[in-house]
Amino acid sequence: MSNNVVVTLKNIANQQNLIVRRPEAGLSLQGRIQIPGDKSISHRALMLGAIASGETRIKGLLLGEDPRSTASCFRQMGAEISPLNTDEVIVKGVGLGLLQEPNEVLNAGNSGTTLRLMLGILASQPGRFFTVTGDNSLRSRPMSRVVKPLQQMGAKIWGRKGDSLAPLAVRGTELQPIHYHSPIASAQVKSCVLLAGLMTTGETTVTEPALSRDHSERMLQAFGAKIKVDPETNSVTIQGRPKLEGQTVIVPGDISSAAFWLIAGAIVPDSELLIENVGVNPTRTGILEALAMMGANITKENEREVAGEPVADLRVRSSKLQSCTISGDIIPRLIDEIPILAVAAIFAEGTTIIKDAAELRVKESDRLAVTANQLNRMGAKIHELPDGLEITGGTTLIGTEVDSCTDHRIAMSLAIAALNAKGTTTIHGAEAAAISYPDFVTTLQGICES
Ligand code: S3P
Repeated sequence: MSNNVVVTLKNIANQQNLIVRRPEAGLSLQGRIQIPGDKSISHRALMLGAIASGETRIKGLLLGEDPRSTASCFRQMGAEISPLNTDEVIVKGVGLGLLQEPNEVLNAGNSGTTLRLMLGILASQPGRFFTVTGDNSLRSRPMSRVVKPLQQMGAKIWGRKGDSLAPLAVRGTELQPIHYHSPIASAQVKSCVLLAGLMTTGETTVTEPALSRDHSERMLQAFGAKIKVDPETNSVTIQGRPKLEGQTVIVPGDISSAAFWLIAGAIVPDSELLIENVGVNPTRTGILEALAMMGANITKENEREVAGEPVADLRVRSSKLQSCTISGDIIPRLIDEIPILAVAAIFAEGTTIIKDAAELRVKESDRLAVTANQLNRMGAKIHELPDGLEITGGTTLIGTEVDSCTDHRIAMSLAIAALNAKGTTTIHGAEAAAISYPDFVTTLQGICES
């Protein structure tokens, strides 16, 4: 049976409009979904491959714009990286501390992970000079969170607004190990300092207020670094100057991308979706816990471990959702899923509160403001809090014109909301999805038409 949902893309100038027309008779979603590779793991595999000795083989790399930015920066510094594809990417690393000085500006595009992690590596390449920048969004995002600890290690970094905004200039130098107590739970900060610690003689420790994703720790260890983790204090220690050797990395599917289908399957009546090969690292599964609290029907199948990361298939069946409160230590474990979680909350009974999430204001967009503004245009009742959102469930969404505000996760969240909105929704700036999910629209069309 065809649902007659029309999901179309219209190119206007350099922008894409995604048009989602929901049939009056309603719709149900069915199918098996293959999601793209994990963005965080893809960046790390390219970076560690580039700075290790020998060859790294990456299977399942995300082909989104963000990892492309990472690959292009490290190619400029002498790493040989084969053309990007999901089957296998081969990286021939330069060896620790041996990146070449690029004769062009390094451009991280829209990618905070590229810029922040790379700064730790660049700052510790003695005698070489680098300039780094990014797109409009990235040039307005705070870099002081990584520049400050690096400067404490002795790094030479300069930029606008007290060295806090890109473009930044970096003169690589010998760094000293430190124990850094990060004021925020951020994997980008933690990873940046650990990567800088690689080139020091001694032990560098990062302590964070709550545990953030641990892909760097896992992968650094797999490449040969000595890592100590203290779960009691959320601390990680790296021993400097290890022998880093190229490895085979198998990138699992990105749970942040799976989240769109988990919520689509939960909120669209009579749906059942099987999302295959999803990374379920416990530092990333806050979204599964939040959805369980809301009464979503999600089961983990075929649980396994692939190249040091836990993986499972996730089956979602639609169900009645209830509101919940999400705050505290779970926030870093679902930080990227909050816009799509807000969509789930619109279709839940009661008022959902999300707190302790002020970090969302400095993502690719101010995600608290943009989530509330755009979904409210469709008829949602979302009230912005200084550090979160208050979402009154049970309102009816009506299709209208909305905008991604150049943020990939907003574009995709609005498309999922549109599946349960009356009439036609037009999402402007839908091309942003290509940052983390180039095939998003094709998959959306597939599950609506089956
Ligand atoms: C990421 C860490 C998170 C996340 C981002 C990717 C990473 O950012 O939001 O999308 O790969 O380390 P923060 O470390 O700033 O929380």
